[in-house]
Amino acid sequence: MQVNRTATVFVNSKKAGTLVELRDSQDLSGRESYTFTYAEEYLKHGVPIGHHFPLKEAQFEFDALPPFFSNLLSEGWLRAHQAQKARLDKSDEFGLLCANGEELIGAVSVVASEVDSLLTDRLIQLPIPKPSTLKDKGVTIVGTSRSFNDYAVDYGNGQSISGVQRKLMMKLEGNQLVPTARGGQYIVKPAPEGVPHCPENEFFVMNLANKVGLNAAECGLVPFEDGELAYVTKRFDILNEDERYLVEDGASLCLVHPKHKDSDALSYETVLKRLSNAAGNSKAVTLKLFLQVVFSYVVGNNDLHLKNFSLMRKPSGQSTTMDTLTPVYDVLSLAPYPKFDGACFMSIGVLAIEEGDDGHFSDAYNAFGYYTKHDFVQLGLNIGLPQTLVEKQMKQLTSKVIKILDSGFQTPMPNVLHQQIVDRIRERCGTLERILD
Ligand SMILES: Nc1ncnc2c1ncn2[C@@H]1O[C@H](COP(=O)(O)OP(=O)(O)OP(=O)(O)O)[C@@H](O)[C@H]1O
Ligand SMILES: [Mg+2]
Repeated sequence: MQVNRTATVFVNSKKAGTLVELRDSQDLSGRESYTFTYAEEYLKHGVPIGHHFPLKEAQFEFDALPPFFSNLLSEGWLRAHQAQKARLDKSDEFGLLCANGEELIGAVSVVASEVDSLLTDRLIQLPIPKPSTLKDKGVTIVGTSRSFNDYAVDYGNGQSISGVQRKLMMKLEGNQLVPTARGGQYIVKPAPEGVPHCPENEFFVMNLANKVGLNAAECGLVPFEDGELAYVTKRFDILNEDERYLVEDGASLCLVHPKHKDSDALSYETVLKRLSNAAGNSKAVTLKLFLQVVFSYVVGNNDLHLKNFSLMRKPSGQSTTMDTLTPVYDVLSLAPYPKFDGACFMSIGVLAIEEGDDGHFSDAYNAFGYYTKHDFVQLGLNIGLPQTLVEKQMKQLTSKVIKILDSGFQTPMPNVLHQQIVDRIRERCGTLERILD
């Protein structure tokens, strides 16, 4: 094996270590391996770069790029643009990381070659106005939803955000949100092409999440210059103007490659156990994770894959415990979109018995043909929560949701869309009451 490419990893602009890609040049099957080594100086005062990277002098060795790094990469829309611009294959993860790893969600940066410092600072202008106030202040997003694609060419490099939908980091300049490769204060997601009013849908569901007591990421609807609304969320990874929290998504924490983020081999039972463990077995985190799964089911969001949960920790101390659940993000109802809605009830199975080719559903699921109270109570029990707490919390969640809907809760969106979402939520709350005789 020979060294093929080298990258330097930084944490909040401090050089943390070196990531090396080795390839067997004699072997046409392209055997590869990777190493990561902490810098000697960094080991004295630094924090672990990742949950699975405790501080140590010895080199870490891998036979594939570790999921920690793969999960920092862009997916879908942004990755396609980045690969084209850097003339890289979309599957060349090491290359994409070197070209687009300087500005990522969280404290980590990755740049090509062995270097001592980042070329640009990572300052973010504070304070960041709440996204929900921007529209009323007359703020618009530069350009239109159609011209958004062109910005990816100019601003999509040097930064990565995971997720399949088109999105970019932006900052406030005067009365406009403008794309930026550095210092992004917000993430801006326009409606995907052919799926109108997705931003309004996400804004409604995120507000509902907040109202029922889940900690949802701050968000707003902001118009482009032609009036079309985009979903805008304020970055929750910002600690102060030059420091970010260390953030890792569920796929990274469970050592799952992004392409397996919704694999049949997984279930919320297994994933939540692992995430709770990563959080130091905090019962508070376990309960919040559980409620996030239940809420997702209630609103008809069948997209709660491993990259749609994240944990974080402050950039201090030597512990790798990810003690804090990030605010909830990326929750919308798939009810209005039959093509995506029909795919499944949940992104992965609820219980571990559903995993894999030999997996099977609970008796209750088999009797009803869908998830009911039984499956979620069982999930709660299996991840170590007491039955009384689980039942009480589920009941409280659905009661609050129904009460909020009964009060006529609305955010801007076409009436038909609102009705489709509300109908689904009421139906799902009903299924969570159902039990086998
Ligand atoms: N407010 C926020 N602050 C910081 N990071 C965020 C925030 N919202 C989302 N993220 C990060 O950005 C990523 C992409 O966001 P999001 O999940 O909304 O995109 P998406 O393209 O809709 O995802 P998917 O592929 O699941 O449809 C998330 O996985 C998360 O890591
Ligand atoms: Mg997502």
